[in-house]
Amino acid sequence: MSSDMEAHKRTAARRAADMVKSGMVVGLGTGSTATYMIERLGERVAEGLHIVGIPTSEDSARKAKKAGIPLTDFSAHRQLDIAIDGADEVQRGPLHLIKGLGGALLREKIVAQASKIFVVIVDGSKPVDHLGERAPVPVEVIPFGWECTAERLSACGAKGVKPRTDRDGNLFVSDNGNMILDCTFGPIEDPEDLARQIDAIVGVVEHGMFLNMASEVLVATEQGVERWEP
Ligand code: A5P
Repeated sequence: MSSDMEAHKRTAARRAADMVKSGMVVGLGTGSTATYMIERLGERVAEGLHIVGIPTSEDSARKAKKAGIPLTDFSAHRQLDIAIDGADEVQRGPLHLIKGLGGALLREKIVAQASKIFVVIVDGSKPVDHLGERAPVPVEVIPFGWECTAERLSACGAKGVKPRTDRDGNLFVSDNGNMILDCTFGPIEDPEDLARQIDAIVGVVEHGMFLNMASEVLVATEQGVERWEP
C-alpha cells in the first residue's frame, strides 16, 4: 500500500467526517478508509460534536469506543442521518459498489439501507467501469450446506467460488457467525440480474453488491477530492 494511497483514503475520510453535524445518528463503516473517518469523528467529538454512532462491525465498535464516540443501536434508532463507509469497487453513474472484502458486508448493508444519506469514501484505486473487474463479490452464507450454496453460486456464472479463510488458514467467521464465499465473476454486465439470482439461493444471507444505495462517493486522488452523485 503506497503512502499516497493512505493519504488519499485519509483525505476522503476526513472530508466525509466533516459533513457530520451535531445531533446526528451516524453509521460507522468498516475497513482502513472508514478507520480514518472514525478517528476524525473522535477528534470532533473531543471538540464538542454531539453524535451517536452505530458501528458496522465489532472492529469498528472497538475503534469508535477508543476514539470516544458514544455508540447506540437499532433498539433506540430505526433511522440514521448519515452512514459513511469505504468500498472495494465503485462504478460511476449508478454508484454501484462492491463491499465486503473486510468481511462486514451484512451489517454494512443494514446500516446503509437504514440511513438517509450514504456517503462512500475511496481512493483512486477503487473506481471501475464494471463491478467485478478486480474484486470478487463476497457472499455471506450460512455454514450449513455451504458446499451446495457454493455450487449454486457457480451456476450463476462465478468462475471461482472460494471460502474465505483467516490468516491462519481457518475458515473465516463473520461477526454474525456466518461464512463468506468470495465469488469471482469478472466484469459483471448486469449486476441487478446477478443480484436477483444470488438473492434467490437458499443459504445466502447477503451479497456484497450495493446497488443504487450510495448517495454520493468521494474519490480522493492526487488531483483532490471528486464528488460523484448518481
Ligand atoms: C468491509 O467489509 C468492506 O466493505 C470495506 O468497507 C471495504 O473493504 C473497503 O475497505 P478499505 O477501506 O480497507 O479498502
